[in-house]
Amino acid sequence: MSKRVACINLPRQKDAAKKADVTQTIIDKNIVPDNLKALFAGKYFYIKTFGCQANIRDEEVMAGYLTLVGMKRTDNQKEADIAIINTCAVRENAEEKVYGEIGTFKCNKERNKNFMLVLAGCVMQEEGIAVDLLQSYPWISLVIGTHDVHNLLNLLSEALRRKQSLINVRSFADEIIENMPSQRLSSYQAYVNISYGCDKFCTYCIVPYTRGRERSRAPEDIINECKKLVDEGYKEITLLGQNVNSYGLDLKNGTTFASLLESVAKLGVPRLKFLTSYPSQFSDDMIEVMAKYDNIEKWLHFPVQSGSTSCLKRMARRYTRDEYLEKVRKIRERMPDIALTTDIIVGFPGETEEEFADTLKLAEEVSYSAAFTFIYSARQGTPAAKMEQVPSEVQHERFDRLKALIDVTTAKHSSTMIGKTFDILVQGPSKRNSEVLSGYATNGKLVNFKGPAYLTGCIVPVKILESHVYSLIGELAEDPLVLKAKDVAFLMSKDPLLKEYLALDENIRSDASIKELGDALVREKKAMGESFMDKDIHEAHKAEYEKVLEAMKNHPLLANRNELMSLVEERLLEVRDYLR
Ligand code: SAH
Ligand code: SF4
Ligand code: F3S
Repeated sequence: MSKRVACINLPRQKDAAKKADVTQTIIDKNIVPDNLKALFAGKYFYIKTFGCQANIRDEEVMAGYLTLVGMKRTDNQKEADIAIINTCAVRENAEEKVYGEIGTFKCNKERNKNFMLVLAGCVMQEEGIAVDLLQSYPWISLVIGTHDVHNLLNLLSEALRRKQSLINVRSFADEIIENMPSQRLSSYQAYVNISYGCDKFCTYCIVPYTRGRERSRAPEDIINECKKLVDEGYKEITLLGQNVNSYGLDLKNGTTFASLLESVAKLGVPRLKFLTSYPSQFSDDMIEVMAKYDNIEKWLHFPVQSGSTSCLKRMARRYTRDEYLEKVRKIRERMPDIALTTDIIVGFPGETEEEFADTLKLAEEVSYSAAFTFIYSARQGTPAAKMEQVPSEVQHERFDRLKALIDVTTAKHSSTMIGKTFDILVQGPSKRNSEVLSGYATNGKLVNFKGPAYLTGCIVPVKILESHVYSLIGELAEDPLVLKAKDVAFLMSKDPLLKEYLALDENIRSDASIKELGDALVREKKAMGESFMDKDIHEAHKAEYEKVLEAMKNHPLLANRNELMSLVEERLLEVRDYLR
């Protein structure tokens, strides 16, 4: 390796699955390297993320760090002073996208000598990749792994100081990092990590090697994060873990996902969901908690992967076809309207026509409201990559058959929604027609309807008129302005400053000493008016009046209100601007 490049840590696949004792580290957000600030404050960063919600959440954290430096986000790649490509390794086609993407940043470096390109995410955890990348693309400044997002600023600073490109990809993580900064991508939908990594080692899957062994966050840290989001007026929280149902097992104190879910539901967020469930660990308690709380969405992503017991065994999924179907039966018995979605892998090594037929039968029987179907993709270092592979034409032919069947069940589910009204969380105007809004129903379905853009981020009732395979068409069931007003009222009721002001006002109204002072003020004023003929009496009342006035000024509750007033005024003016 040339002098231009320094390796701090390089990943080794055989170490990636190591189990270690987990420690917790709390970040101090005030530490920001001076050389980064000097060079990048006021400049722009750009982040392109591939893959799942774990990567999206990492993007938000990295954006949080760059904002600490004083940088601003841009969606225009050309004006970026720092760019991050956040990669996904779950299938070959996801990985391939990365290489094309890196090439497009060469001109940033040619235009701007201070430009820094960072490669992050799951692909970087693969053995040998980082060194190869830096040899082929010398304009990369830093390669970090998934276990080092919290070191982003220090590593960028170090690369600047050394005038070298750096690689720091650790094989495995033994830390839970708390208090990381984060700049969320949405002001109404939030992801909250509950655990990192995965201990399941399904034989096709690279995730346990790229994200490390399973580590659960402490329940109080998760609940505090959710509480803050509720106070900020977030409409939807999604709890994230590669396997949410094993959450808490490593804490060894009896914490379960069902108990965590219940605690978060009680915080009162309008919509609560979670990803991803592992069928055999989905407990009866989970069914009860889901059924009990209206704000938990009646939608469950329940990945089956295959409908064949023998194939599931080769995948090391720890359930049989019958056990999966039994769980589905129980869930539907308690929540008849629940929407079930799934992930299915087609053409897994050794998959026979009979095994595939079992998958088709299961998909038909469960009648999913939607399903993600994937052609098996061999991942280096995973056990399935060494098994006997299914020819590509067979994989594609089976994939098409499964897709056709899934389209039928998806359409069937959508058609049951016609004529009914659903609460939709509005995502904004559709890409094709700015007068049409898109949003998601609580069962996960995408609904389009005519409406004004100012409803973005609101939850609105929409009556479903027509269904298509991948989306539905509806109409707003209420006046949009009334809906917006309700939304503003909801948000205002969450505003901590206004909450404090209204509570103080309430205290002032019910405070006996203030009432007394108020009465005295009126009394003295009246007496002053009545005594204008007698100078001495008039002066005495006037002096008393001023004394009361002074006492009011010094009353702690009233003084507090005066202090808050200008802040509240500012906040209300912000609301007016927001409504424009
Ligand atoms: N932890 C989650 C998500 C894992 S990745 C879960 O267990 O469901 C998301 C999906 O990608 C998986 O459910 C699986 O269907 C698919 N997948 C994972 N590895 C794959 C591979 N090597 N080839 C094809 N699909 C894969
Ligand atoms: Fe991968 Fe299986 Fe873990 Fe999901 S449960 S992340 S498919 S190893
Ligand atoms: Fe991809 Fe990593 Fe997620 S491999 S699916 S980004 S955990």
